[in-house]
Amino acid sequence: MTAESTLAATAQRMVAPGKGIFAADVPLKGLMRGWWGESIHARSEDAAADFQEMICRTPELGDHLSSIIVFPDVLDRRAGDGTPLADLIAQRGLLLGITPTTGWQFLGGSKHEYVPRGLDGLAKRLEDWRERGVAFIKWRVAARVRPGLPTERALVSNARSVAEVAALAHQFDLVPIVEPEVEMKGDHTIERQFEVTERFLHRTFEALYEHGVAPEEIVLKTNMVVSGSDCPEQAGVDTVARETLRCLRRVVPPALPGIGFLSGGQSDRDATAHLDAMNRLDPQPWSLSFSFGRAIGRAPVEAWDGKADESSGQTALRHRARMNGLATLGEWSAEMESGTEDGREPESGGRKTPGHKTPGRETERP
Ligand code: 13P
Repeated sequence: MTAESTLAATAQRMVAPGKGIFAADVPLKGLMRGWWGESIHARSEDAAADFQEMICRTPELGDHLSSIIVFPDVLDRRAGDGTPLADLIAQRGLLLGITPTTGWQFLGGSKHEYVPRGLDGLAKRLEDWRERGVAFIKWRVAARVRPGLPTERALVSNARSVAEVAALAHQFDLVPIVEPEVEMKGDHTIERQFEVTERFLHRTFEALYEHGVAPEEIVLKTNMVVSGSDCPEQAGVDTVARETLRCLRRVVPPALPGIGFLSGGQSDRDATAHLDAMNRLDPQPWSLSFSFGRAIGRAPVEAWDGKADESSGQTALRHRARMNGLATLGEWSAEMESGTEDGREPESGGRKTPGHKTPGRETERP
């Protein structure tokens, strides 16, 4: 690659200051089951499809979002008036990304640790998506923190998997979002989250190097260093911001353009506050952005009033995008959450996520 490669330019655009990524890669069944929130108006597949269309139609969606991630089926779906959803996304100026993962399977011999599925035939799918205007893909690998977990073997296997997909993505001129996630679910301390995150990121960047993947041409998506969700002692905003950056500075090459954090089950407001606090600290070599799923998608689900009224859901979505866009500049404040830019009622974000009590289909999360 050269410093000026198209892939590097696309990666920079994805995490440009003031903007971030909406991880809308939830299948319709996942939406119906409440992965983002409990009130998809009338719980049917049609309602979930209407909701997705409502998202894609949101005016000014690109003001604070650079990109959106969806599952491949969205490429073949059309809005009620026949417009392809991908065209609606492009009209709003967003880059389109795809999650190719087709499921999860136990790491051989384990009953607790998982690796993603979806490598079979991936090259052909990537070629097809590239021809259809897709700019990037996302590959998530996850580590669970429990006594004795994660194992070194799981970290290494998952790091290899994400590096292999990243190398393949580059062959087809797609930017890979490399996503090693240390889950926050559990009663572990922030110190333990730090230690596992550091180790997982080390393994990931080693594997990327071995696969010849240039850091300039990827976006890293990872977790913030927080206390486990059930840990009795919860670290405050400043501690999370400092510890997250201390961990990343140990491992992440300065050549990387930016990091799009996942929200991982944090409340909308916590995720935004943590991102904002990081961006108020000393400048870093990479931009610090977001690639939130639940911390953006939950609010429009809760505000949406069904097909008849798209605007409430769209207002909530725009509001979350704007709040997080401001957080990438260190310009957010909690007071901004109490009103929206167009004078409507704010969305109901700010509570702890309900999480996923029942594991969803394999395409959602293990
Ligand atoms: P959350 O922000 O809900 O963790 O989702 C981000 C994501 O896409 C994980 O793959």
